[in-house]
Amino acid sequence: MDRVLLLCVILLLVRCYNMAILVDATIPNIATDESALLALKFGISHPNPDHNILASNWSTNTSVCNWIGVTCGSRHHRVIALNLSYMGLEGAIPQSLSNMSSLERIGLAFNGFSGYIPSSLFNISTLQAIDLGVNKLSGPMPSILFNMPSLQWINLYSNELSGRLPTDTFNHLPNLKRLQLSRNRFYDGLPSTLFSCKQLQDLSVWTNHFTGRVPPAIGNLTMLKKLYLAENNFAGAIPNEIGHLQNLEDLNIGVNHFSGPIPFEVFNISTLQVIRGVKKNR
Ligand SMILES: *[C@@H]1O[C@H](CO)[C@@H](O)[C@H](O)[C@H]1NC(C)=O
Ligand SMILES: *[C@@H]1O[C@H](CO)[C@@H](O)[C@H](O)[C@H]1NC(C)=O
Ligand SMILES: *[C@@H]1O[C@H](CO)[C@@H](O)[C@H](O)[C@H]1NC(C)=O
Ligand SMILES: *[C@@H]1O[C@H](CO)[C@@H](O)[C@H](O)[C@H]1NC(C)=O
Ligand SMILES: *[C@@H]1O[C@H](CO)[C@@H](O)[C@H](O)[C@H]1NC(C)=O
Ligand SMILES: *[C@@H]1O[C@H](CO)[C@@H](O)[C@H](O)[C@H]1NC(C)=O
Ligand SMILES: *[C@@H]1O[C@H](CO)[C@@H](O)[C@H](O)[C@H]1NC(C)=O
Repeated sequence: MDRVLLLCVILLLVRCYNMAILVDATIPNIATDESALLALKFGISHPNPDHNILASNWSTNTSVCNWIGVTCGSRHHRVIALNLSYMGLEGAIPQSLSNMSSLERIGLAFNGFSGYIPSSLFNISTLQAIDLGVNKLSGPMPSILFNMPSLQWINLYSNELSGRLPTDTFNHLPNLKRLQLSRNRFYDGLPSTLFSCKQLQDLSVWTNHFTGRVPPAIGNLTMLKKLYLAENNFAGAIPNEIGHLQNLEDLNIGVNHFSGPIPFEVFNISTLQVIRGVKKNR
């Protein structure tokens, strides 16, 4: 009788243990974040290995929350920010970074990251800011296929990105405030969905290979403070609707193939401090 009871207890414990493992494996936790960061670390190098700070600092002997560039949230014990800007790092951004499902900010700017931007990065629904500026990333800007209402800042400035901007993307970013795509090799027109990002304050696309007209819908982006279209191949008339941008502070449309004058309404925008539209010899 006692033995039967003991067996039952053991069976119950084994069952609980198995269930615990099951829970561990399915609900992402700080261990999920650690393995994603380790995958990143193993793919990263530095031209001078002695200067690869992650090699020594990102030690599994301490919690990831003590790792340089890593910030954990106080409420749920998860990584909420990763900022490795200005560390001279090289390598690819792994798909598995998106396993960090509580990330709010990713900053990898001013490094030598190369390869494609994994589309899975834009699968982190908590993401507020993604700053990949000044790297060597190539390929297209990934599509964003479902709503990311938290995302406010995308910076891809100064990389080697190319292709058309994805059309089915900007209609999923209702709160995007800053879109910085300058100094890449993007081409073709600005997608019409871009003009549904009503919260945009900074739209910077200078020095790319964009063509086509700037549509009147630009006038819908009434929160715009900075509009940088310079050094592309935009053509046609500059739409009068630019005059509707009553918060505009800085306008740079120079070195394009625009025809006709700058609409006179533009000069009536009281917030405007700088207009740069001077044609340079090409
Ligand atoms: C990321 O998550 C996937 C799916 O759960 C898993 O298969 C993979 O091993 C994880 N990658 C890392 C580096 O943790
Ligand atoms: C890693 O860097 C952080 C921040 O500079 C520091 O607080 C921590 O002690 C370092 N850890 C190791 C193991 O070097
Ligand atoms: C981790 O801790 C162990 C024991 O304290 C030590 O021997 C080892 O060198 C440490 N490893 C790293 C990478 O700091
Ligand atoms: C990363 O840190 C730098 C300062 O070192 C800051 O300028 C930048 O905004 C941060 N990036 C993000 C995405 O928070
Ligand atoms: C992003 O998430 C959606 C929905 O969970 C999934 O269907 C899709 O495969 C994911 N894409 C990537 C690139 O991880
Ligand atoms: C611009 O705003 C007008 C009026 O609200 C709307 O009818 C139009 O669809 C908008 N255009 C775009 C591209 O969002
Ligand atoms: C310029 O602004 C003034 C004052 O807000 C307004 O009365 C006038 O109609 C505006 N003119 C144009 C051309 O927008």
